[in-house]
Amino acid sequence: MKSHERSKALFERAKLSLAGGVSSEFRKFNSPHPFVYSRGLGSRIVDVDENEYLDFTLSQGPLILGHSHPYVLEQVEKASREGQLYAALHLGEIELAEKMQRLIPCAELIRFNLSGSEADHAALRVARAVTGRRKFLRFEGHYHGWFDNVAWNVGSPSLEAMGAREAPIQVPWSQGLPAGSRDEFIVLPWNDLDLVERAFVAHGRDIAAIITEPIMCNAGCIEPRPGYLKGLRDIADRYGCALIFDEVITGFRIHLGGAQTYYGVTPDLAIFAKAMANGYPISAIVGKRKWMQPIADGVVVHAGTMNAGNPTVAAALATIEVLERDHVNERLHRLGQRLIAGLRAAAHETGQNAIVMGPGPMVHIGFANESDVHEFRDTLKYDKPKGSRFVSEMQERGIRIIGRGLCYISAAHTEAEIDHAVAVAREVFKILT
Ligand SMILES: Cc1ncc(COP(=O)(O)O)c(C=O)c1O
Repeated sequence: MKSHERSKALFERAKLSLAGGVSSEFRKFNSPHPFVYSRGLGSRIVDVDENEYLDFTLSQGPLILGHSHPYVLEQVEKASREGQLYAALHLGEIELAEKMQRLIPCAELIRFNLSGSEADHAALRVARAVTGRRKFLRFEGHYHGWFDNVAWNVGSPSLEAMGAREAPIQVPWSQGLPAGSRDEFIVLPWNDLDLVERAFVAHGRDIAAIITEPIMCNAGCIEPRPGYLKGLRDIADRYGCALIFDEVITGFRIHLGGAQTYYGVTPDLAIFAKAMANGYPISAIVGKRKWMQPIADGVVVHAGTMNAGNPTVAAALATIEVLERDHVNERLHRLGQRLIAGLRAAAHETGQNAIVMGPGPMVHIGFANESDVHEFRDTLKYDKPKGSRFVSEMQERGIRIIGRGLCYISAAHTEAEIDHAVAVAREVFKILT
């Protein structure tokens, strides 16, 4: 058994000063308690009790090159010495925007922020301004940050609490949301074009935007059905609303040009964040000129003192440079497919009802007897306690996975490490009930 004594003591101490002992709600979910980490290098992370883990959480996705990538660190240090923040225009951000224009199909104009939540917020604001309409259409189980109008239908305690598929109940994720935020959106199950068509027949003149994760990564790891994203594109065109891809997870990970390049469907607006700067805080709202023009003209306000600071921009430039130079995305797909195949074979050999899904650079493992998983409601079939036991047993054996069963792959992972993770999973499958 690994010792977690120092982590336990520090978590108790943290609870006396940090609300709930953490700095983000998502950091509470670790069994038997959140661990305290002291260093990370490449594919490895070490906690304060000197337990080393092969890290498939990658800090919830950003560390696409692994922890403390030397070239990124070098560029960040160099940029920091030139001044951390001018809060004014500098060459680096122009170069970064130009690079994004070249890589991302919808990126005609760009603005930088620090977090995905802020950039999502800006996208919805500008969509309302261009269309003059009030509402956006969103999908159950998708996550677009923690601001008021999107802190809804992120999860659900049960299928019953969600209401009928055709008319889902709006499920708040938090107390304290303004009553009016309920009127800002319509929610539907994902991956069902007929439902979207019907919603537009009923409310089309009121809908400013469709916002979607192009791959549903925040509940399971579910790809769009063939034709689904294209279908959303057609509906948005017919009704004159914005199609927004929230590429906070998929951006730079599934493909250098995001899911919009991977699936060949160009949205009007898109949000990039996590993997863009290998762990430094930067996000971007990018979009076609028509949809970004109100921000360019200043009639839609977008701001932020800390936006596009020198080190964060340098981190993004360095990260994208390495991603391009080393063809990292191909490697992530290859390693991810190896992990998927290995986990599936190990589950089959040991008689486990594991469902392993995802395009490769991100992979989800859950346990259920039915393998038809296309939308959030289907993920409620997963045996969550069994999934948590799997994650805990893997952690005990030195493999760190996100609590809900999601694994991210980085360029620092090796084939031998993937094979090791599969071998450990096979041992866990043998004892997992
Ligand atoms: C798809 C998606 N959108 C938006 C966000 C919010 O980004 P941030 O945590 O940087 O505010 C996240 C965060 O996990 C996300 O996964």
